[in-house]
Amino acid sequence: MKPFVAYEQLDPLEKPEEPPAPHQPGQFMQKYSRCVLLAGILVTIVSCLLFLHLFNAWSGSAPPGGRGDARGAGGPCSDPCRIVLVESIPEGMTYGGNGPVNPSTFDTWMSLIGSTEHSLDIAAFYWTMTNEDTHTQEPSAAQGEQIMEELLKLPQSGISVRVAVNIPSSKSPLHDLQALAQSGAAVRAVDMPRLTSGVLHTKLWVADGTHLYIGSANMDWRSLTQVKELGIAVYNCSCLAQDLSKVFEAYWALGLPDASIPVPWPANYSTAFNMETPLELRLNETGAGVYFSSAPPALCAPGRTEDLRALLSVIDGAEEFVHIAVMSYQPTMEFSHPQRFWPVIDNHLRKAVYERKVQVRLLVGCWRHSKAAMFPFLKSLAAVADNKTHYSMEVRLFVVPASAAQAKIPYARVNHNKYMVTEKVAYIGTSNWSGDYFVRTAGSALVVNETGGGAGGTATLRGQLQAVFERDWSSQYSADIGDVERWQRMCSFH
Ligand SMILES: *[C@@H]1O[C@H](CO)[C@@H](O)[C@H](O)[C@H]1NC(C)=O
Ligand SMILES: *[C@@H]1O[C@H](CO)[C@@H](O)[C@H](O)[C@H]1NC(C)=O
Ligand SMILES: *[C@@H]1O[C@H](CO)[C@@H](O)[C@H](O)[C@H]1NC(C)=O
Ligand SMILES: *[C@@H]1O[C@H](CO)[C@@H](O)[C@H](O)[C@H]1NC(C)=O
Ligand SMILES: *[C@@H]1O[C@H](CO)[C@@H](O)[C@H](O)[C@H]1NC(C)=O
Ligand SMILES: *[C@@H]1O[C@H](CO)[C@@H](O)[C@H](O)[C@H]1NC(C)=O
Repeated sequence: MKPFVAYEQLDPLEKPEEPPAPHQPGQFMQKYSRCVLLAGILVTIVSCLLFLHLFNAWSGSAPPGGRGDARGAGGPCSDPCRIVLVESIPEGMTYGGNGPVNPSTFDTWMSLIGSTEHSLDIAAFYWTMTNEDTHTQEPSAAQGEQIMEELLKLPQSGISVRVAVNIPSSKSPLHDLQALAQSGAAVRAVDMPRLTSGVLHTKLWVADGTHLYIGSANMDWRSLTQVKELGIAVYNCSCLAQDLSKVFEAYWALGLPDASIPVPWPANYSTAFNMETPLELRLNETGAGVYFSSAPPALCAPGRTEDLRALLSVIDGAEEFVHIAVMSYQPTMEFSHPQRFWPVIDNHLRKAVYERKVQVRLLVGCWRHSKAAMFPFLKSLAAVADNKTHYSMEVRLFVVPASAAQAKIPYARVNHNKYMVTEKVAYIGTSNWSGDYFVRTAGSALVVNETGGGAGGTATLRGQLQAVFERDWSSQYSADIGDVERWQRMCSFH
């Protein structure tokens, strides 16, 4: 038996399938169904409009934690939302005092658990929160073990805990999931391989329908101390948390035995908040438009922007720069048989550089499990910029250093970030950048457009994300893709 679950290992995907047809955006669905409901009572269109007006006014003043589950499109959100960029910086990494230091994933999860009064929903790819799960004896597993202990206490205090997880493979440890179920948590395994030939790769938390976390960190002790992660937490923000709840509810529904993907999704999964009509709210006192995207398309209820569309629109909207940090990047459907070329994102990056003279920087994770095919594709992107063209396309590899002891920890010491920042917006996601993640695998991203509060700086999430990118880009841990000798030595992947 293999002593550990392969970190982020995808089962080979047997059935190559065409991506499901995209759904029509339906941001008016909720308004429409409210009207229909009301028409029965008030009969006339005039009274329907009056109700919508009153409803929006009411939901705008609902207290955090209130169950206003169907705010009208454009309805104001008056929650005092506080947004925090959170990171896991692997033990032993130092930036020599340069660049920002953000709250840790561990502290954030502890504070989410501590703030929960009624309900906690967690979606995750897999669970390995203890040394027992990974057959290790690492002191650095203590944080994961502590999170696990705290989670197991919640049901006793009358808190409803729901866990949606990708269906475990025969090799996955089940210990944490069994312990959760025994503690009184409800656990559902989502058979994404059967449903979409992908996996459930989203990592999200929603507490009391009011606070949330989304980002790259898995429910894995290594994601707290041995893998470099980036995500965001939003507190006291029921408008946003309840929209993310709809994404969770979709996984939850698909976790029933023999579930199938509804076509279309029922109206109560639909959202009014998307690329076209983002949720308008204040994040730390700064006015912002935000929405969650979702993948694959078949899991997008009416109104939900598909993750790929969101990502491409962020690239296409950039006029100055696009900075991307991602664990792996390939213009392919890397898990398809037969293999398929998938240049969708690649084309938009080249187009941004060529047509709009945008500065594109790609910071990609490199470790011993990186696929060999990734490097020539990255070199090809970087080759667009030479001394004659002056196109601004740069690619660097980021390597998390490891001591001899750390190098023995299986599937650790890697930059697992998945975000993008432009001069306009921040995009924080959960997917590697290759085709499979957008057409088959369940993922989600938060797109934030801060419109108030000046051009940026570190008073905005976008400004903070840019500072994180610049810290990593110019650190001793990154090497230009052209400096083959240096990065091959650093990645030690041969
Ligand atoms: C993300 O990319 C890395 C590097 O290629 C890979 O090892 C990992 O398995 C990928 N994640 C998933 C869920 O496939
Ligand atoms: C939510 O807001 C209330 C009232 O301002 C505050 O006491 C509480 O600490 C906030 N919760 C979190 C998790 O930030
Ligand atoms: C939508 O309604 C169905 C049927 O009442 C229910 O089972 C499901 O949980 C609801 N979903 C959401 C997101 O509220
Ligand atoms: C670009 O110019 C620099 C300095 O003139 C030179 O060292 C480098 O080799 C040139 N690069 C290419 C790709 O020609
Ligand atoms: C950000 O919001 C402003 C104001 O609503 C809007 O004009 C702009 O197009 C948005 N930018 C992006 C990239 O979504
Ligand atoms: C929001 O405020 C919190 C403190 O309450 C701070 O830690 C965080 O950095 C702020 N976020 C942004 C984007 O300014």
